[in-house]
Amino acid sequence: MVDEQGSGKEAQRVPTGIAGLDEMLGGGLLFNSVAVIKGAPGTGKSCLGMEFISKGISEYGEPGLIITFEEFPRQLYRDAISLGFDLRDYEREDKLRTIFTTPAVFLREIQQPGGIFDRTIEEISARRVFVDSMTQLERITQDAVELREIMYTFLNGLLRYDITAMVTQEDAYITGNMSVAEAGLSYIVDTIIQLRYVEINSSIDRALFVLKHRASDHDKRIRRMLITPTGVKVESVFEGREGILSGNPYVTRRVRKAEEFFK
Ligand SMILES: Nc1ncnc2c1ncn2[C@@H]1O[C@H](COP(=O)(O)OP(=O)(O)O)[C@@H](O)[C@H]1O
Ligand SMILES: [Mg+2]
Repeated sequence: MVDEQGSGKEAQRVPTGIAGLDEMLGGGLLFNSVAVIKGAPGTGKSCLGMEFISKGISEYGEPGLIITFEEFPRQLYRDAISLGFDLRDYEREDKLRTIFTTPAVFLREIQQPGGIFDRTIEEISARRVFVDSMTQLERITQDAVELREIMYTFLNGLLRYDITAMVTQEDAYITGNMSVAEAGLSYIVDTIIQLRYVEINSSIDRALFVLKHRASDHDKRIRRMLITPTGVKVESVFEGREGILSGNPYVTRRVRKAEEFFK
């Protein structure tokens, strides 16, 4: 929707509704853009996506569509319950739809006017879409160039509508490096949010940081992320720790001195 002041839709923000994340993004995602959540299995990618959709419905009156290539809807609903969201309720109220299919079938649908995607978006006037996960598109082809084209076609298919999308992608390597498929997607999307496991005091924590956010400044700090029974919380930075990105942070000398002092 174009606002009265005439500043285009592109400038509009779409708050994710996830505690702490919107401030990092200067208010939220860009309207009609795609954000990718990257991370190793279990880092919380699906949790973030489900909350983006749930909060869209509960806080912002924006119906949502979940496209999953990974989990049976039943499993998805169970996962959402553990975060405090009842997706079934939203579905009953016609504010949510879930499509569980294969990447190949969906790709065909999205290129076909009046297909399942078009009909679903129109039936519930969806404004948010969550796709879990883009990694499954690799099942269609192993060829890097072709894959990039498929991802491009796929995402453009989504953006034909006035929707804002969040998609997930699995990290190919635990440490830093990107696969060709990951690099391809990174170019296409507007926002990249990276999740990481970090080891702190012999326990595993989760970290979140924003790698890319088109057309606006963003918080570049690495923050702690918690998954709780009331949703995801993006918290403070990891004070006094360096090396978070390596997965093995160490306490900085200044903090260690302070800790020793207070022993
Ligand atoms: N209410 C909760 N409290 C704490 N941890 C949770 C809660 N709900 C889910 N989790 C944890 O979230 C993780 C799953 O995250 P998920 O989003 O499925 O990861 P990914 O999609 O990146 O593989 C699991 O480790 C699970 O234990
Ligand atoms: Mg997942």
